[in-house]
Amino acid sequence: QLFWLHGPRSGPAVEYEARTGLWNVYGYPELIEILGDPATFSSDTMRVTPKELLPSEDEFSLQGFITQIDPPEHGRLRKLVSSAFTRKVVADLEPRIAELTHELLDAARERGRFELVTDLAYPLPVIVIAELLGVPSSDRALFKEWADGLFERDAEISLKQSVEQSKAEFEATMKPWNEMSAYLAAHAAERRRHPRADLLSRLVEAKVDGERLPDDQVVNFAILLLLAGHITTTMLLGNTVLCLDAFPEQQDKVRADRSSIPAVIEESLRFMTPFALLGRSTTRETRLGDATIPADQMLVAWLSTANRDPRQFADPDLFDPGRDPNPHLGFGRGIHFCLGAPLARLEGRIALDILLDRFATLRTDPEEAVQFIPSPSLTGVRRLPLIQG
Ligand code: HEM
Repeated sequence: QLFWLHGPRSGPAVEYEARTGLWNVYGYPELIEILGDPATFSSDTMRVTPKELLPSEDEFSLQGFITQIDPPEHGRLRKLVSSAFTRKVVADLEPRIAELTHELLDAARERGRFELVTDLAYPLPVIVIAELLGVPSSDRALFKEWADGLFERDAEISLKQSVEQSKAEFEATMKPWNEMSAYLAAHAAERRRHPRADLLSRLVEAKVDGERLPDDQVVNFAILLLLAGHITTTMLLGNTVLCLDAFPEQQDKVRADRSSIPAVIEESLRFMTPFALLGRSTTRETRLGDATIPADQMLVAWLSTANRDPRQFADPDLFDPGRDPNPHLGFGRGIHFCLGAPLARLEGRIALDILLDRFATLRTDPEEAVQFIPSPSLTGVRRLPLIQG
């Protein structure tokens, strides 16, 4: 039942799609090339998007959005935000993550039913990132509304949209985006006046070469953390439970040997890659696989299919936490490698350990439907009812 596999794997590793105007890249070695060469494969995809499909600068700005920035600016910004978001900051969260997991599971037990996403996989990472940033976690219904408005779209990724389609798409995302910006700007401004012991204050205060981050960049980075900090980790938790349900022998193994939990998490990231694709643009003509790609083309780099490339992974459609090493691309690779990976791994490890303690078997409820997120770029469930026991 490999219904969660994204994209075709037979056929060429690099393929131009005339209908959308995009170059799809599916293969592992080809992705390694792309992610290792930001000078040729730029993260700034707006530069090759037809101008008529883009909102005007005063309507919308991705200024300081770290995932869209190339070297040398990227290095400076990355250094600055890393100084606020350190490994120690993440490691110190361990007891709080365990406490929250127990609280959420206790509340679900009192309600007498258990649906993994609503009861644990969604609230846990959101509360953690909200507490870390220093915004009230009680506002999380708002965060969910914004995140759903921005991500839960099944619109096809295409450069050949009509201007009307693109306008409609843009207008639908502007409302959640603007609300989220205003919300975080208000909190950031407050921290400038009264710093506290939270990440937002550290971002406002952080300096590289004597310079602080401008306000709009603090806000854009906080938006990225709030979004990246929860949606993907929600998917990671749901996917991991789904994998252990589909491969019960692996569930037995990890129950018997909890030290293999980190390997289970890594294999889950390979097997059901939460963030399925990354966008890049070519800055010059280049060879990739058997294709010659002209300059100024938009590429869709499929992490999900690269993670199942048989040239890199033996038996790629087998969920096998025993893979060692497991060089999956679930967190990307190279200079943009996921800054939140230590946090996502920590949350995954603690939540899975506690779920295994509290559930004698982790099984999806055959009476109830599992629902996947309707988006081409995300692999994950938004509803996963489990059998109590
Ligand atoms: C970057 C995936 C969790 C913050 C990335 C990238 C991927 C990714 C694939 C690379 C983007 C690119 O190369 O264009 C994931 C997955 C997660 C996860 C699968 C969970 C399972 C988190 C968390 C946070 C976070 C919890 C923060 C709290 C970031 C940031 C970047 C990033 C700030 C940009 C880094 C840069 O551009 O230098 N993530 N992420 N992520 N992630 Fe994550």
